[in-house]
Amino acid sequence: MGKQGQYEDSSNSVTEIGEEKKERFSRSGFIFAAIGSAVGLGNMWKFPYITGMYGGAAFFLLFIVCLLAIGLPVLLAELAIGRGGRGSVSTSFIRLSGAKGWGAVGFLSILAPFFILSFYSVVAGWTMHYAVLTFSGRLFSNTDYGGQFNAFIGGWLPVLWQFIAMFLTAFVIIKGVSSGIERFNQIFIPGLVILLIVLMVRALTLDGAGEGVSFFLKPDFSKLNTESALVALGHAFFSLSLGMGAMITYGAYVDKRQSLGAAAIAIGLGDLLYAFLAGLIIFPTTFAFGLEASQGPGLVFVALPAAFAAMPLGTLFGGLFFVLLAFAALTSTVSLLEVPVSFVTEQLGWSRSFSVIIVTAAIFLMGVPSALSVGGAVSGLNFGGKTFFDWFDFVCSNIVLPFGGLMVTIFVGYVWKGAAEESGLTASWFKLWLFMVRYIAPVLVFLVLLYSAGVIHF
Ligand code: PHE
Repeated sequence: MGKQGQYEDSSNSVTEIGEEKKERFSRSGFIFAAIGSAVGLGNMWKFPYITGMYGGAAFFLLFIVCLLAIGLPVLLAELAIGRGGRGSVSTSFIRLSGAKGWGAVGFLSILAPFFILSFYSVVAGWTMHYAVLTFSGRLFSNTDYGGQFNAFIGGWLPVLWQFIAMFLTAFVIIKGVSSGIERFNQIFIPGLVILLIVLMVRALTLDGAGEGVSFFLKPDFSKLNTESALVALGHAFFSLSLGMGAMITYGAYVDKRQSLGAAAIAIGLGDLLYAFLAGLIIFPTTFAFGLEASQGPGLVFVALPAAFAAMPLGTLFGGLFFVLLAFAALTSTVSLLEVPVSFVTEQLGWSRSFSVIIVTAAIFLMGVPSALSVGGAVSGLNFGGKTFFDWFDFVCSNIVLPFGGLMVTIFVGYVWKGAAEESGLTASWFKLWLFMVRYIAPVLVFLVLLYSAGVIHF
């Protein structure tokens, strides 16, 4: 027992509160799985394009501040709730508060993954299509990468790839949480970092890379506005997988003896590292090839092929990059799907396989309009200037996740009395944590909500 890769069965935990024994992550397995959840399309697809849109280096700085000051405390809070409650999201809330009403928060844990997965799986599908396109060499047959991307998302193929992404996610989840996910992450997360470093070296040595580096690292605060601040905070939540129960659900599988504070720091810094590397690849490349950094969701798919084409063994590196990106996406989609599945199996008593099939099918159907709305059949359907895809993304990052995060901070700050013990923090760290969770995080998150809902304007 307790060896890496095997289930750890700590004698002190589950049975005490009368629940059946559950699987446990090993120490490093948990860190990898949590980093796997955090690191994904958020880091390598979304972070670069929103940094491009909302102010470059100044936005990056703001994002770091949000991640460290608000994200980490909320992350620790979620992990503690998960480990303390040892159930699905709503069960954990009910168990720790003793009040049934808190179970309603569990409803969010069904809703949010639906929203997120419905557009996230679309982009995960794009990365798989690009892996095939790159390996087969077809990507390089025509250097109008923007045109190629538009032709692809304008057709029906994205729906097929979205289906494949959801299918693979369901496949992993049906097999269970533990060693499958653990091993999967232990290979792909380090693999990805090595490849990112190789690509970074290539990107930084391109002619004209310097302009991109300064765009990413030399802040110009005049580029910031209120919206940048809100987007930065929303993205800190998205990037750390907060506000919708993923980290609470994973927390339930953590061994009692593991330090949650240290884990939260490792996850936060890991997440930041991947975003940093992604930025150091994408901006130098974008600028070196004279492309537009603020072009939105297509950025990675349009800018990087140019870099791959310009490097020796570009077919291999490019193909590998998109494969790893697809896996990084899958380690996140897996953590997203686990949340409603654990809720449904627990509350409705359905078998795991049946729950997975029903939930996956529903999410896939909900994602179809997103898949077709970025240039495809329903891209003309705009609501308030936003397509389906934009709406799902906006509602998640700016409303659903902050709301979930707000609930977590209120719960740990004001309701649950056992947080100090569960966190395992020393007295002074605990004071700081509690201060952030009680006073700072809820206020800022609440402001994001009000602004997003159109209640206040700056
Ligand atoms: N953190 C993931 C990413 O950055 C996305 C995600 C959000 C995963 C919420 C799980 C829960 O790609």
